[in-house]
Amino acid sequence: MTLQNKVALVTGGGRGIGRAICLVFAAKGADVIAADLDLAAAQGVAGEVEALGRRSLALTMNVADEASVNQAAGEAAAWQGRIDIWVNNAGVGSRAMLHEMSAEQWDKVLSVNLRGAFLGTRAAARIMMPQNSGRIINISSRAGKGGSYGHCSYSSSKAGMIGLTKSTARELGKYNITANAILPGFIPTELTKNLDASITTPEQRVLPRAGRPEDVAYAAAYLASDEAEWVTGIGLEVTGGTGMFAG
Ligand SMILES: NC(=O)c1ccc[n+]([C@@H]2O[C@H](COP(=O)([O-])OP(=O)(O)OC[C@H]3O[C@@H](n4cnc5c(N)ncnc54)[C@H](O)[C@@H]3O)[C@@H](O)[C@H]2O)c1
Repeated sequence: MTLQNKVALVTGGGRGIGRAICLVFAAKGADVIAADLDLAAAQGVAGEVEALGRRSLALTMNVADEASVNQAAGEAAAWQGRIDIWVNNAGVGSRAMLHEMSAEQWDKVLSVNLRGAFLGTRAAARIMMPQNSGRIINISSRAGKGGSYGHCSYSSSKAGMIGLTKSTARELGKYNITANAILPGFIPTELTKNLDASITTPEQRVLPRAGRPEDVAYAAAYLASDEAEWVTGIGLEVTGGTGMFAG
């Protein structure tokens, strides 16, 4: 499996799972655009991509902001003249029980995770349709299928991303563009560092070790590869087996 000479853009590419996707894609031969709210973090990852011998570009992008997404997408498309792979990875959480969650908390999570994935997908579609090829990968979550205790806005946004993925696959298939979701289980990152320990207990996994950002990145590399050209509209669970029990 190779991504030789592909151009990939990863939102939230500055750290965690997004960073791992950037580095695995680069190791497989892709040139990579790391787009993040945090430009310094994206620049750090771009440096790591270049150290792997690939070209890289760091861009500021706020996925929840229409003008910011369109601006960055324009710069990204102009960089190498095309984008082959677009990964909607940027995401946030907000912890509160349903009866205590404010509408603002709800809106913030939905605007980054779901509106952000929509704006990114739309920008990618506009670039990829004239190319008559492309790969769109949405980093959803197992929480989008099984729900998440104390995180209703998060799980709702991730369920929405599954619907977005399927609609995208249906509409863009005729342009040889695939759209797939990845549903990771719990992965230790900045996002999850303050979560309840019960979510991380090994008993909930079939496989003994904890998940790593690279586990998600390898799945993304498969969906981005030529070998996956007949795979679209799926939600690929990368959970160490926890997905067998949840929801
Ligand atoms: N870590 C997990 O257990 C887990 C499980 C399932 C799904 N996910 C999903 O994987 C994705 C990455 O998660 P992570 O654990 O690496 O999180 P993280 O917090 O470590 O990294 C998220 C990155 O997204 C960036 N970001 C946040 N808001 C943004 C915005 N509005 N515009 C652009 N960039 C923005 C951040 O700056 C950061 O670099 C998220 O969508 C998350 O929901 C994570």
